Amino acid sequence: MNQDQHTPVVAGLDIGSNKVVTVVARKTGTGVEILGMGTAPTDGMRRGVVVNVDATVASIRQSVGEAEKAAGVAINSVYAGVSGPLVKSFNSHAAISVKNEHEVTDADVARVLERAKDVDLPHDRETLHILTQEFIVDDSGGIKDPRGMTGIRLDARVHVVTADMPSMKNLARCVDKAGLDVTDLVLSSLATSEAVLTPEEKEVGVVLLDFGGGTVEMAIFRDGSLCHTAFLPYGGAMVSSDLASVLKLPFQDAETLKTASGCAMIQKVRRDELVELPGIGGRKPKPIRRQHIAEIIEARSEEIFLRLKKEIMRSGLDDQIGAGIVLTGGCALMEGLPELGERVFGVDVRLGLRSIGIEGMVETVAGPAYATAVGLAMYGARMAEQAGPAEHDGEGDGMFRRFTRFLQDLF
Ligand SMILES: Nc1ncnc2c1ncn2[C@@H]1O[C@H](COP(=O)(O)OP(=O)(O)OP(=O)(O)O)[C@@H](O)[C@H]1O
Ligand SMILES: [Mg+2]
Repeated sequence: MNQDQHTPVVAGLDIGSNKVVTVVARKTGTGVEILGMGTAPTDGMRRGVVVNVDATVASIRQSVGEAEKAAGVAINSVYAGVSGPLVKSFNSHAAISVKNEHEVTDADVARVLERAKDVDLPHDRETLHILTQEFIVDDSGGIKDPRGMTGIRLDARVHVVTADMPSMKNLARCVDKAGLDVTDLVLSSLATSEAVLTPEEKEVGVVLLDFGGGTVEMAIFRDGSLCHTAFLPYGGAMVSSDLASVLKLPFQDAETLKTASGCAMIQKVRRDELVELPGIGGRKPKPIRRQHIAEIIEARSEEIFLRLKKEIMRSGLDDQIGAGIVLTGGCALMEGLPELGERVFGVDVRLGLRSIGIEGMVETVAGPAYATAVGLAMYGARMAEQAGPAEHDGEGDGMFRRFTRFLQDLF
């Protein structure tokens, strides 16, 4: 990768159910500069899990190749997203007594985090992130960085994100077969949050919903930290399947009809509005009431939202999401979906289109379907800058690197 400039160039790789996206970026003084992007459709993933290695590898190669060309750099390693079905997360807590003259040091922080993540994980799961919610030094809580503070006892309340090892290895194998190193694996919704959520939203409480092709991923932030994740194993493809089966269309025609003429709220469509239903096997297209299409889309979208609402209630955070919901992923482009969300969830819903602190190619990467790849590149750019060149180049022991990364996640 080109290291001519002052800050390292990094690549984010989002392997989705519908498409693989690569974004190349570099940290600037005020945010990140996007240098290039590549995207390729894929058949290799189903509902967030690799089902065809060769197809996934081919799509990774295509998207990385395109991004390399656009950015004019060679990509050797990537920050890859880990999503949905691979991930489970939970809150944890630990306390230690502060050594060293009662001044909290890096070592104390490392010790308390090590203890907080030291829960009985099944042998096939690995810790992906330890994200601090707060540190407590003696009786003072709400501390984000306790280093240098004086006290006898240090508590940490953290959110631990774990991933299924065999599935994660499959994903890493695809990246490897595409000729790339994995600099790091990152929870997709954590990366997406970097691209579309403001610090204020995370502080006040917000739900990030990534409504993709094969999955819906949810992440709840509160007091600036991630505190809950959830996942549904279906997304936009399910909506297209409904249209295909009710209107007796091939899936691809249903998908095209949905993206061109779909609406997730019947109320938003005029009664007399007609659209063309593609004819099958050379038959002529037929007109169909657009309200009928909206009826099918609304029914499924509402069902998905109701499931997510249940999950928000289950998390116990339903009264702590003052900033409402931010909707991203390709399905966020569906007309009427934010309004339907507001009706079902009873809170403000906005589109996660805006990419915060981004320079270069702003128009190209602004779509909600690219938020995860952009977020991965932003996350990577931040990590690479903090890590310094040796670590960025992959020197040193893997465990050590991972642990340093845990600390970088924190401060
Ligand atoms: N204009 C549009 N209107 C409605 N839906 C759209 C539009 N454009 C794309 N979609 C839908 O978005 C979905 C793809 O979203 P996205 O690109 O975020 O998925 P992905 O990241 O590849 O998959 P996942 O995150 O689920 O693994 C598809 O179901 C597609 O039909
Ligand atoms: Mg996605």
